[in-house]
Amino acid sequence: LAQDFKEKYRPQFHFTPKANWMNDPNGMVYHNGIYHLFYQYYPDAKVWGPMHWGHATSKDMISWKEQPIALYPDSLGYIFSGSAVVDKNNTAGFGKDALVAIFTHHDPVQEKQKTGKHETQSIAYSLDDGKTWTKYKGNPVVQNPGISDFRDPKVRWFEAQKKWIMTLASKDRITFYSSPDLKSWSRESDFGAKEGGHGGVWECPDLFPIKHEGKDVWVLIVNINPGGPNKGSAGQYFLGNFDGKTFTSNSKETKWLDYGTDNYAAVTFANTGGRNILMGWMSNWQYANQVPTDPWRSANTIARELGLKTVGNEIYLTSIPVKELDALNSTGFLLKNVKVQDQLDLTERAKNKSGLFRLDLTTESKADFSIVLSNEVGNELIVGYNKAGNQYYIDRIKSGKVDFEKGFAEKHTAPRLATGSKISLTLLADVASVELFADNGLTVMTDIFFPDTPISKFHIKSVSGIFLDTLQYKSIKSRNDR
Ligand code: FRU
Repeated sequence: LAQDFKEKYRPQFHFTPKANWMNDPNGMVYHNGIYHLFYQYYPDAKVWGPMHWGHATSKDMISWKEQPIALYPDSLGYIFSGSAVVDKNNTAGFGKDALVAIFTHHDPVQEKQKTGKHETQSIAYSLDDGKTWTKYKGNPVVQNPGISDFRDPKVRWFEAQKKWIMTLASKDRITFYSSPDLKSWSRESDFGAKEGGHGGVWECPDLFPIKHEGKDVWVLIVNINPGGPNKGSAGQYFLGNFDGKTFTSNSKETKWLDYGTDNYAAVTFANTGGRNILMGWMSNWQYANQVPTDPWRSANTIARELGLKTVGNEIYLTSIPVKELDALNSTGFLLKNVKVQDQLDLTERAKNKSGLFRLDLTTESKADFSIVLSNEVGNELIVGYNKAGNQYYIDRIKSGKVDFEKGFAEKHTAPRLATGSKISLTLLADVASVELFADNGLTVMTDIFFPDTPISKFHIKSVSGIFLDTLQYKSIKSRNDR
């Protein structure tokens, strides 16, 4: 077993299935001390196929253990994305504290016949902590009114009115349904036909409140493919109010959860109390089926704690890595008050041949600078700040293997939303990904990349010069070191 998970490009602190295809995280829920992750999974090949729900469990959302497949396709179709809840009051009658999964049945036969009704919503329950599942006899619980894309139910309990709310993607909008028992659902309202980004189909939504300055602000996440800010798949969000029937948005512009190309279908865990924790699929439909990994395809992002922050007249979502990740920190160093003129080479101090690390730095937004990750064969992944454009960027043009898809070798940009003159960055690097959390998570970028050999060199560069208040570097333990 010690040899497992050592393949080229194998992430060390992000979830990957041992073998074969994975896409969206599904049914993420905390139950009896365990975090559950289900995911779109095709166990027979390394490309997308008839969907199952794979399953993994964790005590900390960081180290995951793969479990047997939870849901298999059946006569109603493939098992597409969805959510899971803990039915504390036994509203469905399956049993107290039952785990109930709410997912889309996607019927490939009807899809070919173009009935327009091939996607319906169904439920299944587990009374043994997610080990075995029973599909409900009355499935589907939501019939399709004739909408070709009608999927990815995200369900939560709406305490004020003692009912379940289902947030569902219906092609170019969100439809809300409510239910007393998870079995009979009534349509409440639609949102979004004229709002937000519409460069692609709406998928994988989420709806939840976050307390902000003493009030509940409702967050509606809507993943969209294509149409992301740097092409392909991405997650947008709206902030506003939800009254049990209707969502009203206060957002004046389209807002993005993550400006990188590799955080799709991101939604939050259920039943995590006051914490709102997001995790996404760390890939993009532009090239997900082509990435050069073997024998698996795709990883998830790190779990991220969400918050809200007011900047000027707007409120934005912030995301930062969950604190549980800190347990994997190993050796590192701290620098204070360092002037970087041209470049600062951190390679010797870092002594890190695996490329797994976390970097936290604070500086001023006065000049361009970049963090360059490289290796002996000259691959470079560059994360930087561009003063003139007031933008952050990730450049993976020369980052290693890029030729599997023509749009992969690009530089991605993101606006700096913070207004202060101090920049603070957190950068997480795994074997084949970087996640940038700028300004305490106001601007986030996630990109995957495939270096020919592990990243082993680290430089901070600034032609016109910057002053670093602090720079903290910590190696992160690989799977076999923990
Ligand atoms: C998003 C998505 C979902 C769908 C699933 C199918 O990536 O297209 O809308 O349920 O993947 O695997």
